[in-house]
Amino acid sequence: MRKWIFAPLAAPSAAGPARGRIVCNCFDVAENEIRADLAAGLDLAALTERRKCGSNCGSCLPELRRLAAGGMVVGAA
Ligand code: FES
Repeated sequence: MRKWIFAPLAAPSAAGPARGRIVCNCFDVAENEIRADLAAGLDLAALTERRKCGSNCGSCLPELRRLAAGGMVVGAA
């Protein structure tokens, strides 16, 4: 949805699987992708290696750490 907002289209091109809230804006990494990787056994270091989240500005690191610790993310529904 995010990529569609400024696209010159009347409607989103296709409804893909719900990605959830974007946690890492630098690398466009969504909460559901992070949860899936963590459920597959990746730890925070492996997650950062795979998706690069947390490796640029670092502002998403607190949320990444909470997700990796199995905690709830503030603002999550
Ligand atoms: S928001 Fe994740 S590295 Fe910048």
